[in-house]
Amino acid sequence: PMIKHLFGLTDLEDRIQQGFNIAQVVVVPGDSDLSPFVKKELGRSGAAILRKLVAKNGVIAVTGGSTMAEVANHLRPIPQFKGSLFVPARGGLGESLELQANTIASNMAKKTGCQYRLLHVPDHLGEDAYQSLIQDPNINEMLQVIRTSRIVIHGIGEALVMARRRKVDSDTVKSLQQDGALAEAFGYYFDQQGLVVHKMPTMGIRLEDIQQTETVIAVAGGKSKGESIAAVMRFGHDDVLVTDEAAAREMLKHL
Ligand code: BG6
Repeated sequence: PMIKHLFGLTDLEDRIQQGFNIAQVVVVPGDSDLSPFVKKELGRSGAAILRKLVAKNGVIAVTGGSTMAEVANHLRPIPQFKGSLFVPARGGLGESLELQANTIASNMAKKTGCQYRLLHVPDHLGEDAYQSLIQDPNINEMLQVIRTSRIVIHGIGEALVMARRRKVDSDTVKSLQQDGALAEAFGYYFDQQGLVVHKMPTMGIRLEDIQQTETVIAVAGGKSKGESIAAVMRFGHDDVLVTDEAAAREMLKHL
């Protein structure tokens, strides 16, 4: 706490918390765009929050991404996690294997000594494939499990950065631009007001599930993501935000 006061981070946390109406905000010092150590600190704080908020015997849905990978790195097998089940929040978003939600969910489970279940859905599903997959009893049962999640922990990305990383086609990129897509989280794209302007064609957690989830935790930092994080906070269903100083200062400009 002493260090935080010196750096004025408590004040920053309060301003973000009140300005965006989020129950809890944690700001770590620095800019994770510039330093991998800051990203590790984000991961450490994300892991600490998850440990604090985990409800025994609950389902925990996680997204992919390099920030969630850092959260996974900092998890330990402690009693609070007993009986938890880790699942991916959504399937097939076009991420590389190490950044996929399935990978992160299984890593988190291994680190905490918990169980996990995976969702095997191909990337870029067409409508026909989607309709037939959703009728598969195994997939359907897994979707029901995901929708009972008591905790969702997710990353946030810049819309166009994520679109590029997922190699979405140029028509989709154009329409994202036209629709003013600014941010991305769990396969949904948001504009400045936090309205959903596009969603990736895959299955898993839906917005209505997010709205009903007991605890939604966002972990994202870096100056470049500040405006995107602000947009997702406007969407308004996160209970906890773990971010860094550079992103937080940027967020304040978009209050
Ligand atoms: C993706 C998540 O895997 O990672 C997104 O599905 C998130 O919700 C993104 O926007 C963030 O990635 P990173 O690497 O910037 O943490």
